[in-house]
Amino acid sequence: MAEPLKVGLAGVGTVGAAVIRLLDQGHEKLATRCGRPIEVVAVSARSRGKKRAIDLKKFRWIADPVALASDPAIDVLVELIGGAGDPAKRAVETALAAGKPVVTANKALLAGHGHELAMLAERHRVALNFEASVAGGIPIVKTLREGLDGDSLMRVYGILNGTCNYILSRMEQDRLAFDECLREAQRLGYAEADPSFDVEGHDTAQKLAILASLAFGTKVDPDAVYTEGISSITLADLDAAGELGYRVKLLGVAVRTEAGIEQRVHPTMVPKESAIAQVMGVTNAVTVDAEGLAPITLVGPGAGGMATASAVVSDLADIARGVRTPPFGRPAARMTAVRKAPMQRHEGGYYIRLLARDRPGSAATIARRLAQQQISLESIVQRHELRPQVAGQPGRSGEPVPVILITYATTEDAVRKALAAVRRDRVISGRPQVIRIEKN
Ligand SMILES: NC(=O)c1ccc[n+]([C@@H]2O[C@H](COP(=O)([O-])OP(=O)(O)OC[C@H]3O[C@@H](n4cnc5c(N)ncnc54)[C@H](OP(=O)(O)O)[C@@H]3O)[C@@H](O)[C@H]2O)c1
Repeated sequence: MAEPLKVGLAGVGTVGAAVIRLLDQGHEKLATRCGRPIEVVAVSARSRGKKRAIDLKKFRWIADPVALASDPAIDVLVELIGGAGDPAKRAVETALAAGKPVVTANKALLAGHGHELAMLAERHRVALNFEASVAGGIPIVKTLREGLDGDSLMRVYGILNGTCNYILSRMEQDRLAFDECLREAQRLGYAEADPSFDVEGHDTAQKLAILASLAFGTKVDPDAVYTEGISSITLADLDAAGELGYRVKLLGVAVRTEAGIEQRVHPTMVPKESAIAQVMGVTNAVTVDAEGLAPITLVGPGAGGMATASAVVSDLADIARGVRTPPFGRPAARMTAVRKAPMQRHEGGYYIRLLARDRPGSAATIARRLAQQQISLESIVQRHELRPQVAGQPGRSGEPVPVILITYATTEDAVRKALAAVRRDRVISGRPQVIRIEKN
């Protein structure tokens, strides 16, 4: 048997420990499949004395992950520390500069510095593999990088955050409020103590920025992603969506348009019968639309130690076999800056829920403001039964009436202008709720 591929593992937390377990359990099979064994030889973490479920004694301990990255005894660095800055960044740069391939699950690092790291990897002719950084166990990076013709890709979108999908699924299925579902997700370990990174859409935005680069050959740019989270979604929205034949999902969507690449993360109404609408709980899904091809949807576990570790091990297996592709599927030097399609020019259908003041002329004023922006309505529903109630009493006349509007395709700019005018007219109370509709 050929020489083993010697791995230096920086980070032995949830994913790192699972990688050690998987490499151990699959040792023989992997060696047969790759033509050589894959063995962890040295590890690094923050605290040597920490109690751990796995035994690290058989590995060399190198306290500094940057020193581990350049250690002559390792062939490849696996970075599972996390974070866009040091020591993860410096460890990855050090390994690449020393001519060692790198495997990482670190979406923050890739989103922040993906292009410069790809340049470095190519300069030193080594692999930089990051399958685990997006959608955990779903092989979407490889699919976009190697499995599809990059020039024909039109749109990539998906459910990239299990926490948000869990909360929305639970709200809908069990008729619970957002806050209650969030607390439950925290109790079950699906949501962090500070959940804002997940629920405000930033985690999805980082992953989408990576997918958009792979799909369209643009430099990773998370600042080009328009981002909205799910914390304003109410049961009333989910109920209305259900009645209208939709389900609400937090989607990351990257689309090639005439105005440039549109990248956006926001709650989205998707047709109930679509593949993506069936994905419930913490599961992730990604759909790819390419010219001349029916949409392809990959569904699977988006996080968790073992799922993520399986993506890391698959990346290691490629390195053991000697497979090296440019990190983003094309030479990094040819990747271009994103030509960002302004969100104002986004076109699509909209769900708008507003509280109309119960006065003569309110409905007519709203209709006029929409018409002034050339917005046509597919449906309009006044929901008297959904009036805000006082201590369990039915809503009374004189109180605002919830109105739900579904528009035909229009632009973001038109919707924003119309709603700003309606607010100035003082015919509604509170802020209107707006959810974009994504048809297949
Ligand atoms: N968990 C998931 O489901 C998942 C899914 C997809 C991607 N990822 C990504 O995988 C990476 C690792 O995530 P994780 O959940 O395994 O994190 P984790 O459980 O917090 O583990 C992080 C590891 O890094 C070590 N570490 C932290 N700061 C360090 C420093 N300054 N120097 C050296 N070591 C340091 C920690 O050391 P100690 O053990 O001593 O504290 C720990 O071993 C992240 O990039 C994350 O985004 C995770």
